[in-house]
Amino acid sequence: MHSVGGLSDRLRRAADSVLALSMPGGRHVASVLLGIEGYLYPHEALYLYWLARTAPDPANIIEVGSLRGRSTLCLAAGVRQRGHGRVYAVDPHVYGTLLELRANIERFGFQRQVTVVPERSIEVAPRWGEPIQAIFIDGDHTWAAVEADVCLWLPHLQPGGMLVMHDSTELSGFEGPRQVAKEVCRVGEMFEAAGTLASITWARRRGGAIDWNPPEYGKRLLDYIIRKRAAKASHAWR
Ligand SMILES: C[S@@+](CC[C@H](N)C(=O)[O-])C[C@H]1O[C@@H](n2cnc3c(N)ncnc32)[C@H](O)[C@@H]1O
Repeated sequence: MHSVGGLSDRLRRAADSVLALSMPGGRHVASVLLGIEGYLYPHEALYLYWLARTAPDPANIIEVGSLRGRSTLCLAAGVRQRGHGRVYAVDPHVYGTLLELRANIERFGFQRQVTVVPERSIEVAPRWGEPIQAIFIDGDHTWAAVEADVCLWLPHLQPGGMLVMHDSTELSGFEGPRQVAKEVCRVGEMFEAAGTLASITWARRRGGAIDWNPPEYGKRLLDYIIRKRAAKASHAWR
């Protein structure tokens, strides 16, 4: 994992931003990718943007794990473009990032699109009362925590809604989310479609009025590059 805040991180963010600009909708997330440190590939950022932008009404989106807001504001950018909806940013800020998140929301002018919920996911989910169209899970990465997040939030997900899990494919080093995604995110009784993009696994709940498929720009090329780089790095360690 890269060091956040150093020169290499700043260069990476600039590269992410330029890559995003080369894809449809990229101009809506480029400044977020340049300005906010965090863990999100450019095509993942764009996927979140299109997820929020194309979500069925009323576009209520739960984010578990916001940190400084890199993913939060990509979702918020999609909500802003569509004109309505809301991102609920659930995070107890175990790394002390709450003020930074609030400052970033203000800096980018997303106060109307984001509600900050500074609590643990498992405390918030049981008392939740709104229908949800999309859930993005990127909180505590232990297997037990990810499983609890999925189990507690899924009952609130509307038919046709999307469960989206970060760091949950073979392109991520996190065992917990990967295992849970493998168990849960597959076509069957609960989900009618599922897939991956970079480290994201997504699954669409059965029963919606439309086949909602947010576009997956950059997937073929950037996933290929990430896979090649990972293979090269693991080779260098042998
Ligand atoms: C990998 S970071 C999130 C990165 C962020 N999505 C981004 O784009 O940069 C994980 C976050 O999960 C949060 N977290 C840890 N335990 C949590 C819990 N029980 N509920 C919600 N968030 C949690 C941490 O405070 C941390 O900010």
